[in-house]
Amino acid sequence: MMGRHMCCFIFFLLWQAANGDVSYSFQEEMKRGSHIGNIAKDLNLDVNTLSSRNARVDAAGNRKRYCDISLSTGDLIVADRIDREELCGEKLSCVIKRDLVLENPLELHPFSLHIQDINDNSPQFNDEMINIEIQESADRGARFVVEEAHDADVGQNSVQQYSLKKNDNFILAATGNTVELILDKELDREKQEEINLLLTALDGGSPQRSGTVVIHVTVLDANDNAPVFSQAVYKASLPENSPVDTVVVTVSATDADVGVNGDVTYDFGHVAEDVKKVFSIDRKNGEIKVNGRVDFETVTSYDLRIKAKDGLGLSSYTKVTVDITDVNDNVPVIYVKSLANPVPENVSPGTEVGIINVQDADSDNNQKVHCSIQQNVPFKLVPSIKNYYSLVTTGQLDRELVSDYNITITATDEGSPPLSSSKTVQLSVADINDNPPVFEEQSYSAYVTENNKPGSTLCSISARDPDWRQNGTVIYSLLPGEVNGAPVSSYLSVNGDTGAIHAVRSFDYEQFRSFKVHVMARDNGSPPLSSNVTVSVFISDVNDNSPQILYPGPEGNSFMTELVPKAAHGGSLVSKVIAVDADSGQNAWLSYHIVKSTDPGLFTIGLHSGEIRTQRDISESDSMKQNLIVSVKDNGQPSLSATCSMYLLISDNLAEVPELKDISYDEKNSKLTSYLIIALVSVSTFFLTFIIIILGVRFCRRRKPRLLFDGAVAIPSAYLPPNYADVDGTGTLRSTYNYDAYLTTGSRTSDFKFVTSYNDNTLPADQTLRKNTIHYFPFVSITITNIFTV
Ligand SMILES: *[C@@H]1O[C@H](CO)[C@@H](O)[C@H](O)[C@H]1NC(C)=O
Ligand SMILES: *[C@@H]1O[C@H](CO)[C@@H](O)[C@H](O)[C@H]1NC(C)=O
Ligand SMILES: *[C@@H]1O[C@H](CO)[C@@H](O)[C@H](O)[C@H]1NC(C)=O
Repeated sequence: MMGRHMCCFIFFLLWQAANGDVSYSFQEEMKRGSHIGNIAKDLNLDVNTLSSRNARVDAAGNRKRYCDISLSTGDLIVADRIDREELCGEKLSCVIKRDLVLENPLELHPFSLHIQDINDNSPQFNDEMINIEIQESADRGARFVVEEAHDADVGQNSVQQYSLKKNDNFILAATGNTVELILDKELDREKQEEINLLLTALDGGSPQRSGTVVIHVTVLDANDNAPVFSQAVYKASLPENSPVDTVVVTVSATDADVGVNGDVTYDFGHVAEDVKKVFSIDRKNGEIKVNGRVDFETVTSYDLRIKAKDGLGLSSYTKVTVDITDVNDNVPVIYVKSLANPVPENVSPGTEVGIINVQDADSDNNQKVHCSIQQNVPFKLVPSIKNYYSLVTTGQLDRELVSDYNITITATDEGSPPLSSSKTVQLSVADINDNPPVFEEQSYSAYVTENNKPGSTLCSISARDPDWRQNGTVIYSLLPGEVNGAPVSSYLSVNGDTGAIHAVRSFDYEQFRSFKVHVMARDNGSPPLSSNVTVSVFISDVNDNSPQILYPGPEGNSFMTELVPKAAHGGSLVSKVIAVDADSGQNAWLSYHIVKSTDPGLFTIGLHSGEIRTQRDISESDSMKQNLIVSVKDNGQPSLSATCSMYLLISDNLAEVPELKDISYDEKNSKLTSYLIIALVSVSTFFLTFIIIILGVRFCRRRKPRLLFDGAVAIPSAYLPPNYADVDGTGTLRSTYNYDAYLTTGSRTSDFKFVTSYNDNTLPADQTLRKNTIHYFPFVSITITNIFTV
C-alpha cells in the first residue's frame, strides 16, 4: 500500500528558486526504503563519487535522520517511520530539515522534507461514555454541551462532522468545535429515567474514519407528580365505643416522583376540630385510628377529608366516610311521669295510679324496650302509647295489710346482650276508715264481791282498730240501758280512753247477782265506725246475812207447840226447823244444832235437815212438856247464826192442850196471849194435817220406808228469800265455792264434803258445769251447784 502511495503521490518538488534548498514532499508512514527523490541528481552530484565522498544525511544533534541516501543511485529513501502526528501534531505543514554531507571536499547541502498527512487516525472522544444529568423539567430547546471528539490528523482528515443516533428527545447541533444536544421533546423521568445516545464523530478523510461515544443521559426528577389516592372515596364502618387505636381504615396514595418528591405524608384536610378529637391519622402510613370516644348517639357518621402531600408540597385529597354502627350501650331509662301517691285503699281494681315512660338512646332493636314489674304486688303495667305505660291496680288494696309498696319496674331492651335497668317506686296506701273497732273478746265478764267500794275497777275492755290515726283511735262509751229500772250509768262508768270499767256504787248480791251492760267502741273517723260488746257483771256473795228461821216463828210473835204422840217410837219425826239464808253457797249452807233441851236424850235434830226426831221411844215417865232451843248456823266465814225455841207436848189428846198456856206463860211474856189463841187455832189445823200425814207415812213406811216424806210438804215459795240459789238466769254457773257432793247411802240426808275454795273468778276451761239437784229437805227443793272435774 505504501508502495502504491509512493507511486501515486510522490512527486518531486524542487525548490531551488529562492534559497537553492532542495525539498521533497511525501506522505507520512511510508515504508522504510521507499524512494523519496534522487537528491544526487537534484544537486548535480556525481553518483559515482558519493560513496567515496562518504555522502550521508546528517541531522543536528542526535535527532532521527528519517531518511538515507542510497550511495549507489543517489536516491533519498525512507529510513525511519515518519508519523506526521508525532512530528508535527496539529501543525498543518510539517517540514523536517536535514543536510546532505559530502566529504572530500566537504559539502553541506541542506534539504527539506515536507511530510504530507494521511488519514490514519480516527476521531476520538475523551471518554468512552459521557454522563449528563438533565432535569426532567428542562424546557424544549435547552442545550447541553458535549465534549467534542479529537482526530490527530489535520485538515480534511480531522473531525469534520458529528451525527447523533436517532432518539426521541434530542437533536444535535454541532458548529465548529462545539457539539450541543438540543432538547427537542420534554423529558419525563417517570417514563424514562435514563437515555443512552450514540454520538458519532466523522473526519473528512478518505476513507472516512469515525469515532463514537455513548452519552448517558440521566433524567433528574422534578416534583411534577402529585400523590394519587388508591380510591376516590373510602368507606368504613366502625362500631361505637371502639377502643382507642382501633384502625378504622388505611388510606394510601402513591406519588410517581422519587425521593422527597415522592415522599407522601398524610393529614386531615379541612375537618372540624371535634373530628380530630375522635380520629387520628398516621402521617406516614395513612392509618386512621380511633383517638377518642365514638358515640353513635352523638354522631352517626363522619366525613373525613384526607390530604396526601409529597415532600415539596403537591397534595391531593380524598374522602373517608366512617359510618358508626350502634352498639347496645345505653340502658333503658325509666321515668315516672306521674304518680298518685298515696293511693286511697278503697280504689277499685283497674285504677290508674301512675304513668311510666321508658327511653333508650340506642336505635333499632337496641332501642326496643320491654317493661315489667315484680309479681307479688297488686299492680300491673299496661302498655300505652309508644313507650308509655300505665301503672294500674289489679286488686283491692288494704292499708291495714300492706301500707307501702315498693314497686320495682324493670325495663329491658332487645339488644344482645340486652341491657336492663330498674327503678323502685314507693307507693303508700292512704287510710280509709274501713275497719270498725273490734273487741278483743266477744264478751267480757267482771266479777265483783258485793259491798264493793264505789269507784273500784271491775275490769278493762279493749278494742283494736287497725286504721290509721284518728280512724283507728278507739273511744269507749256505755250504751244507755237499764238495770233494775235504773240507768246503767248509775251502776257503772267506762273510761273512754282506757276502757277501764268502774263501779259507781256498791252492789248487793242479795239484790241482784249479775247484770249486763253494752259498751260501744267507736273510732274517731268520719263517719265513725263502732261495735258493741256485752259486759256481764257478776256479783259474788259475802256472808252478810244471818240465817232466817221461818219455822217456828220468832218467839213472841207466834206460839207454836208440836204435839208428840205418846206412842211415838224412836226415830219418829216430830217437827222440823225451817231456816233460810239470803246468802248463797256456803254462806247459805245451814246446820242445825240443839243447844239446849229439857231432856237432852230424847230428841235429836238432823244436822242439815233440821228434822227433829225422837231418839227413843216415848215413855210414860217423860215430861209432857219438852222445850228445845235450836241454833241455825250458816257455813260462812265467819259464820252467822240464829236461834229459835221449839215447844213440844207429849200428848195424844188435844184436851191436854190447855196446859200449853202454862208452858208458854212459864217461858214468855203475857203480851202475846191474845195472839196465842189465833195462832193455836191455825197451828192446830196444821198439826192435825201433820198428824194425818205422819200416820199415813208411818203406814206407808212399813212397805216403802224410804219415801217417807217425799213431796209431802211444801213450803210456799213466798217464804223463801229471793235469789236463794246461786244459779243465774243464763244458766252460767258461778260460785265462790265449789263442792263435791257425796250422797251417803242409807241416809236420807246429804253429806257435803268441802273440797276447795276458789277466789278466782274464772272457770277453768276444761271443766264442765253440771247442775246437781239434791233434795236435802223434803219440803224445799234447793239447787246446789257442783263442779265435777272431768
Ligand atoms: C321500701 O323501700 C324502703 C327504702 O328502701 C324501705 O325502707 C321500706 O322498708 C321498703 N318497703 C317495703 C314494703 O319493702
Ligand atoms: C280517715 O279516713 C277518711 C275516709 O274514711 C280519710 O279521708 C282520712 O284521710 C283518713 N284519715 C287518716 C289520718 O288517714
Ligand atoms: C250496738 O247497740 C246498739 C243499741 O243496742 C244497736 O242499735 C247497734 O246496732 C249495735 N251495734 C252493733 C254494731 O252491734
